[in-house]
Amino acid sequence: MIKVGLIGYGYWGPNLVRNFNGIPECKIKYVCDSREDRLKLLKQTYPFIDTVTDANLVIEDKEIDAVVIATPVFTHYKFAKAALENGKHVLLEKPMTASVKEAMDLMKMAEDQSKVLMVDHTFLYTGAVQTMKKIINRGEMGKIKYFDSTRINLGLFQPDVNVLWDLAPHDISILNFLVNETPYSVNATGVSHTNNNIENIAYLTVNYQSDFIAHFNCSWTSPVKIRMMLLGGNEKMLVYNDLEPSEKIRIYDTGYSYKSDEERKKILVDYRAGDVYIPKVEMKEALSSMANDFVNCIQSGSKPVADMKSGIDVVKVLEAAQLSIKQNGKEIKLDIWN
Ligand SMILES: NC(=O)c1ccc[n+]([C@@H]2O[C@H](COP(=O)([O-])OP(=O)(O)OC[C@H]3O[C@@H](n4cnc5c(N)ncnc54)[C@H](O)[C@@H]3O)[C@@H](O)[C@H]2O)c1
Repeated sequence: MIKVGLIGYGYWGPNLVRNFNGIPECKIKYVCDSREDRLKLLKQTYPFIDTVTDANLVIEDKEIDAVVIATPVFTHYKFAKAALENGKHVLLEKPMTASVKEAMDLMKMAEDQSKVLMVDHTFLYTGAVQTMKKIINRGEMGKIKYFDSTRINLGLFQPDVNVLWDLAPHDISILNFLVNETPYSVNATGVSHTNNNIENIAYLTVNYQSDFIAHFNCSWTSPVKIRMMLLGGNEKMLVYNDLEPSEKIRIYDTGYSYKSDEERKKILVDYRAGDVYIPKVEMKEALSSMANDFVNCIQSGSKPVADMKSGIDVVKVLEAAQLSIKQNGKEIKLDIWN
């Protein structure tokens, strides 16, 4: 039996408690939140779980095997560090930490102590992303040329992080999961329409050394909700609409070829638009698969799908994007941490 303590019972914490509570090999011993009203709410559904307002009681309890951290990002490092120092396995909410340095520190500690350190990149566990991975890996799309993601709605303005730190971890983790090439640099721009210097709209481009390119559009200020990704290969193109209840992925047998007309100094493009098909996507709750992966990895010593490396890679892009935004879109190379 893996004994778990969870810190942070705000918006996301209840989803984690529900899913960990459903795992037979796991027992949630404590939930911690500094807000008594949140703990009162927890008790209504889970009277058998102990509640505390001091996170140290969870982290220092010798009976606890694993700590799940669902507090705001600027607290992730201190809680994860203390938990690892106390010999616990750690699951961190996304984004892993507020800086690459913090993420690297935690990775070293986890490796030194052979503990599982994992990040809740929930989307990697969705049927849709798993299906996309299979389609790409079997070469059906040809060579992937672009990835274009839109994640916009009238969202909750976060007080401490900009819209990229809030929304883009999902899309960046999916990008890194699907595409094997290492990103080379980023350019990002954004605006803050409030007076706190925290961007509520941002556009991020991730550049590669090949001709592959990735682009992200994130906003908390859109009248409509869009969760859409386009992936273009030289054989086929794919649209992933996460808001579709069941037909989330469509694959278009669409493409183009071109030749140069030397005489007229022109490129002549031929278009091809063939059939569209909708692959079957497993509809299991992704958060349940993520929680099970964490528990299985603790028990078996295997590597999680959303491992610490995937957490660091996301924070690298976010930190570089932040630097770029503050320098009006300047290109920031991602090898600055090597
Ligand atoms: N994986 C996902 O899809 C997903 C979705 C939403 C949020 N998140 C992530 O979950 C984390 C939390 O986000 P949220 O929206 O639930 O935030 P939130 O502000 O709603 O909840 C955070 C909770 O942590 C508590 N808290 C803060 N500092 C504390 C401390 N020192 N000790 C004890 N409790 C403390 C707060 O009282 C609050 O109840 C963030 O990292 C966020 O990015 C992930």
